[in-house]
Amino acid sequence: MSHSIKTSLPGPNASKIINTMKAHTYDSTFVYPLVVKDGYGCIIEDVDGNKFLDFTSNVGSCPLGYSHPDILQILKQYSNCGMHKIAGQDFYSEEHVFLAQKISTILPENFKTFFINSGAEAVENAIKIAYRKMGPLPGISCKNAFHGRTLGALTFTSSKPVQKFNFPEIPVLRIKFCTEDNDPEIESTEKLLKENKAAFILSEVIQGEGGYSVASKQFIKNLRKFADKYGVPLILDEVQSGLGHTGKWWAFEHYDVKPDIMSAAKALQIGATAFDKKLEPTEKGVISSTWGGGARIDMAVGAKTIDIIKQERLLENATKMGQILKSAITEIVGKDGITDVRGIGLMIGIECETKEKRDTVLNNLFKNGLLMLGAGQKSIRIIPPLIINEEQINEGISILHQACRTQ
Ligand SMILES: Cc1ncc(COP(=O)(O)O)c(C=O)c1O
Repeated sequence: MSHSIKTSLPGPNASKIINTMKAHTYDSTFVYPLVVKDGYGCIIEDVDGNKFLDFTSNVGSCPLGYSHPDILQILKQYSNCGMHKIAGQDFYSEEHVFLAQKISTILPENFKTFFINSGAEAVENAIKIAYRKMGPLPGISCKNAFHGRTLGALTFTSSKPVQKFNFPEIPVLRIKFCTEDNDPEIESTEKLLKENKAAFILSEVIQGEGGYSVASKQFIKNLRKFADKYGVPLILDEVQSGLGHTGKWWAFEHYDVKPDIMSAAKALQIGATAFDKKLEPTEKGVISSTWGGGARIDMAVGAKTIDIIKQERLLENATKMGQILKSAITEIVGKDGITDVRGIGLMIGIECETKEKRDTVLNNLFKNGLLMLGAGQKSIRIIPPLIINEEQINEGISILHQACRTQ
């Protein structure tokens, strides 16, 4: 199945729903007027029957695309279950155990996992585990980082002023997120740690909301080195990059380092804080939440997602398709207002000359049936489902070429 746009956008059904939404809910981060109805493979169908080729995977949350038969089977399995959601840190369930076992197969050795509701909460709990060990010291995070919008995680976020204005912060020290090994600030973490005690170092490996900037090898290696030297836990936030989008389970695997604590969510279907056993809080009840580890269907889907990525060799596919996609985009760099392309695997950022150009391209893409998202100040992010094939990439590239040329 390929994309097909039958109505003007938004279509009549979508317009009605959006107008009602606007009357009753806060207009948050909606990018374009897409009202979803269903999905098949890499196609999202809207409520007016328009079909869009999806290069977003719902910001990385749907790595298998839509209607994967094994996932539909799980949904059927639960259709008669009257207890689909439980207080998952208060009552045990098999799904919780299965997901914990399954994620252990792809985590660093000696790690345990704590399941929670969202990516921001996965970060919250990561920093709480570090604070519990280190005390209430400042945390170190990167400029332009995004770690979520709850107040703790938000302190360490700094990708956009709109996310921060008037919200209080806990103590934080910020370092530059270096994308070049020869960046003059690449050693600055050590200077900070010499002068200040810190509770943790927190970073993404590829800045997601910040614009799909890829950390330099030396930068991540330095974070590990200085964390070890000064006895500070290293937290890596894999909420967006985790579970295969870069062609490896975790983006940090491209850097030959391991974190002490990490956060995951999105593709896993629920939030997860994973940590080296040596950092496990010694008392019960230090961290918990009613719904954490309690969304039984989501946990079953998360565990199956890991299985399918293995069975269908989707890490290899992400690497291969990522190369094809990146080299096709490279051909338009320097033309039509596109200045750069970067990324690893199927996490690819395109840099535009201006924010206006970026917004125009995104809008043109949408109107022509291809979904991509903005990130950073003037970047486009591409994070398609891991199941994407060459034909769909070619289809997307031809829409992208056209969208960049159209004013
Ligand atoms: C790296 C990273 N951390 C944390 C979050 C927050 O996740 P959530 O939106 O599930 O709270 C995001 C969301 O985009 C993210 O990209």
